[in-house]
Amino acid sequence: MTANATPRRLELRILRGTPMAPSPPQFESYFVEEAEGMTLFLALNEIRSQQAPSLQFDFVCRAGICGSCGMVIDGRPGLACRTLTRDHGSVITLAPLPVFEWLGDLSVNTGKWMRGMAERLETWIHTTGDPDRLSLEAPMEPAEAEAIYELDRCIECGCCVAGCGTARMREDFVGAIGLNKIARFRLDPRDERSDEDFFALIGDDDGVFGCMTLLGCHDVCPKGLPLQTQIAFLRRKMAAQALK
Ligand code: SF4
Ligand code: F3S
Ligand code: FES
Repeated sequence: MTANATPRRLELRILRGTPMAPSPPQFESYFVEEAEGMTLFLALNEIRSQQAPSLQFDFVCRAGICGSCGMVIDGRPGLACRTLTRDHGSVITLAPLPVFEWLGDLSVNTGKWMRGMAERLETWIHTTGDPDRLSLEAPMEPAEAEAIYELDRCIECGCCVAGCGTARMREDFVGAIGLNKIARFRLDPRDERSDEDFFALIGDDDGVFGCMTLLGCHDVCPKGLPLQTQIAFLRRKMAAQALK
């Protein structure tokens, strides 16, 4: 939008409803005047403050860090706080992320799903030593630290899970995020688990063999994590392990 251009009138079609409501969810339209640099967060905030006080959606950081504002934006999972309205048409359709427990309107409970996945895959450092001593006395190689940091950039937004056909069909599928976590802890020299230990956690149809390489996860990850590479690597490693 140039300085003197007439602002667009945006129509936000938002799926509204709650799990307890007697009627099924339905799309409702709200109209806002587009402002320079407007994000979906700003548009939704304006709608909630001026038109629909009961509208449910989640935000904490507004900066692409907390992972709480994932939703389906024009059919594609993404972060509302990092989505500029100018990158979309004048009608924008918003729906909650599928797969996760639906709380109402655009709000879902990703935390419950993430906890279940983390407990199942034991996404913490396993060591027989004192973890504090280990971190102080065993400095990591810069390349190792960098590789782990790269995978640690995941903000647990759930977009990769919502964008995965397998996750929609298999309730216990750990998703690209789960496979990424295994790849991350496998790289960590402080974690004493063996490859066999890691592969026992993901060596079934709820893990790496359930992945059908649909790659929706890779396409939608707002942090640009190398999910495709990590999944292919784990699969190759596991196949090699099986042939031993
Ligand atoms: Fe979100 Fe990417 Fe992490 Fe998936 S891997 S939860 S899309 S940041
Ligand atoms: Fe799903 Fe990604 Fe595999 S979209 S099927 S986890 S490649
Ligand atoms: Fe934190 Fe969007 S509000 S990532």
